[in-house]
Amino acid sequence: MGMHGREREERVSSRTDQGAEWDERKREALDYFRTRGLLERAREVLKDLNAAKKNFLIYPSHHEICLESIRRFMASFQEFLRWRNEYPLRIVGEEFFFEERLMARESVLYYPLLRELLEKGVGGLTILAGLEPRELSEFLQILNLGKEEIASRGGLAKLLEEREISHLFIDEPGAWEEKPPRLREMTSAREEYFEAVDVIRELSEQVMHDRRLSVSKANRVVGMILNRVGENRSAVLGLATLKSYDEYTSFHSVNVLILSLALGSMLPLDRNALMILGTGALLHDLGKVTIPQSILVKSGPLTEAEWKLMQEHPVRGADILLAQPGVHPLSVLVAYEHHARYDLNGYPRITGKDSLSLFSRIVELVDVYDAMTTTRPYQDARTPDHAIRILVKEKGKAFDPLLVKIFVDMMGLYPVGTLVRLATGELGVVYEQVEGDAACPRVKIIRDPDGREVEPRIVDVALLKEKLGAGNGEVMTSVKPDKIGVNPLDYLD
Ligand SMILES: [Fe+2]
Ligand SMILES: [Fe+2]
Repeated sequence: MGMHGREREERVSSRTDQGAEWDERKREALDYFRTRGLLERAREVLKDLNAAKKNFLIYPSHHEICLESIRRFMASFQEFLRWRNEYPLRIVGEEFFFEERLMARESVLYYPLLRELLEKGVGGLTILAGLEPRELSEFLQILNLGKEEIASRGGLAKLLEEREISHLFIDEPGAWEEKPPRLREMTSAREEYFEAVDVIRELSEQVMHDRRLSVSKANRVVGMILNRVGENRSAVLGLATLKSYDEYTSFHSVNVLILSLALGSMLPLDRNALMILGTGALLHDLGKVTIPQSILVKSGPLTEAEWKLMQEHPVRGADILLAQPGVHPLSVLVAYEHHARYDLNGYPRITGKDSLSLFSRIVELVDVYDAMTTTRPYQDARTPDHAIRILVKEKGKAFDPLLVKIFVDMMGLYPVGTLVRLATGELGVVYEQVEGDAACPRVKIIRDPDGREVEPRIVDVALLKEKLGAGNGEVMTSVKPDKIGVNPLDYLD
């Protein structure tokens, strides 16, 4: 007990330090808010957008007046990014909204802009962090084309894609009408998960038909998931337990996205870096689209020729991404290196450098974790705790040891969503990690010792262990969900 108590104390005191730091930061943020509020900044951005739009109508895009208005816009957008990572402008009826907030004054002041946006097929406009001056300039030029010309060239969204504008996303008129903005805000994380699956599905189709990829959609999905990770990492991690037997690669890609961003956000990476990591993670297996389905789902061992083809998917994926303007080179590298292994004994052979890029090492690790915990034609899913033990065993060989450590700290030895049998005989689902105690999470009890359903309640495994005087291995063991016929995800909300 003595040692245990000491450890606990230390944990508490380090938490207090963190608490003080947070208070300090919160105070800073509040001060900043009071002087210049978020909405104030949002108004500024819209004002500069309106001004730039007008200048682009009068002067050619390379004219100093246009250049100056781009600079102005970029400056106020940068300022705005101190609060948010994207600028969501919406049109409901004949009013501008910033998210769910009505911008009454702007709706009157910039009414001509609002009308024009609607007429040209824009019901909402989201500007993402990372926007380049070039993209804004091109957007304004497109927006200043005539209504008919835009329509005859396939619409604004298509024109944006063609001009490789990947940090600016438009919604159709009416997109915000049916769902009031407030409702839209509450879109559940699970809906976003399926939205992400839709997008990767769409991108795969595009690869299959040799079409240009909708990079802006990929970016948007990455940004969306990144926001969720920032809000509530453990809730999002629960989502990454979603799997699909039939549509493995799409679900797998979204899981790898979630896990990569969760792991990446434990490192000192800024928003832009996380976006690049996320895009690489989401698209890492795109090369598989070019591998015959019969090989991908083969249940027996692959022949040598099949295996050789299979091993080409990272290079093919990287080739596909290289041909897409707007994909960051480091995201491409993730696709190229994600099977190369930490010790460089994987494929393809990496030459000319002695380690993988950090983003590749992150994706490599979570890729294997997700693959191991999924049922495939050639394997049963391993339980999450089993997969974690394999990662630990392979640290320094297949995986970066430091990343393994951080990943285990984050996931725990029994990750969220693991089905477990407690020493009491009850069945539960790991519900949430306890910081600093990887072996003892909180568990939601779902069945009594006789297998009868019970009103779910949450127990602290550390307390249970103390009460029973049991060791780690004795207090709970993982169970395969298909053996019991429950879906752990149903109990995570
Ligand atoms: Fe892969
Ligand atoms: Fe993969």
